[in-house]
Amino acid sequence: MLSIMNKHVAVMGAAGHTGSFVVAELRRRGVTPISCGRATDLARALRDADAVINCAGPFAATAGPVIECAISAGIPYLDVTAEIEVVTDTFARYAQADIPIVPAAAFYGGLGDLLATAAMNDWSAADHLTIAYALSSWRPTPGTRATGKVSAQRRNGRRVLYAGRRLQFRPGAAPRTEWTFPAPVGTQPVIGEFTMADSATIPTHLDTPEIATYMSANAVDDLTAADPAGPAAVDERGRSAQTFLVEVRARSGGTERRAVASGQDIYAVTAPLVVEAAMRVLGGAGGAAGVASLGARFDAKDFLGSLSPEHLTLG
Ligand SMILES: NC(=O)c1ccc[n+]([C@@H]2O[C@H](COP(=O)([O-])OP(=O)(O)OC[C@H]3O[C@@H](n4cnc5c(N)ncnc54)[C@H](OP(=O)(O)O)[C@@H]3O)[C@@H](O)[C@H]2O)c1
Repeated sequence: MLSIMNKHVAVMGAAGHTGSFVVAELRRRGVTPISCGRATDLARALRDADAVINCAGPFAATAGPVIECAISAGIPYLDVTAEIEVVTDTFARYAQADIPIVPAAAFYGGLGDLLATAAMNDWSAADHLTIAYALSSWRPTPGTRATGKVSAQRRNGRRVLYAGRRLQFRPGAAPRTEWTFPAPVGTQPVIGEFTMADSATIPTHLDTPEIATYMSANAVDDLTAADPAGPAAVDERGRSAQTFLVEVRARSGGTERRAVASGQDIYAVTAPLVVEAAMRVLGGAGGAAGVASLGARFDAKDFLGSLSPEHLTLG
């Protein structure tokens, strides 16, 4: 295993809300961050870096250019995109890349993928997966709001869901229903078919024909409010008061397996997820060239265990 001491990791979008958490997490782990923004000559900055973490979204505009720079520099690329189409584009375009590429190493796209992988365990296939997200609130950052607009434009007003072994686009409003989350959240009104990046990462390595998704309705109401307030820090780490719980259920025949994680602040928890992935890749684990998600690249239970209990409560 290589030592991570003296490693330098470039962070694109370092001045953003998520980028700031990532920079702090790198420092906390003894890695030197190289902060990059719009004015940075990225090709030059990446010459001094051992890896790059892209936190600049909407990623529809940034993923391709930053990946191209990482390929030229010959260093691993990781991002925190929540954009389903960006994840699928990245898998399609860069499958043969000769650097490790880890898209959506974040709350959406990464955590659900790790939980699904852990829940499936030794199953080679599941008949059905369900991912249910409970957020106590969702005060979106400007980047989240911009990303939502870009994705809505790309989908021309349609919703996306994973069914029949593929991502499908559907017209009309998403269904409202109820979902019973594990305690202490309990039964909540939810929006169904709230498809996030996990539904793009999971099918790249887990065999399932269907992924049902639910998001707590109060969080969707926050997100779609006319003038939503951004997250407000309530602790010394800069985390907001938002709490989350993600439940994954995998069903095969008559048997169901579950994995659950909970914690505080979906933006803040993205930093330990993507930084842990970067550290593992730099340390030689899960560093295969080409595109692979967190669940595909790493031992999911070990990865989740390494973030618990400081960042995640499991079970
Ligand atoms: N998958 C997940 O769970 C997850 C978690 C957290 C964040 N995210 C995603 O990460 C992105 C950033 O979120 P955030 O909360 O950090 O938002 P934010 O606080 O608004 O920060 C966005 C950052 O990206 C930069 N940026 C945007 N477009 C750029 C471009 N074309 N070129 C260079 N820099 C650009 C911004 O620079 P300027 O200030 O110069 O505009 C800013 O530094 C969003 O797309 C969000 O969806 C996903």
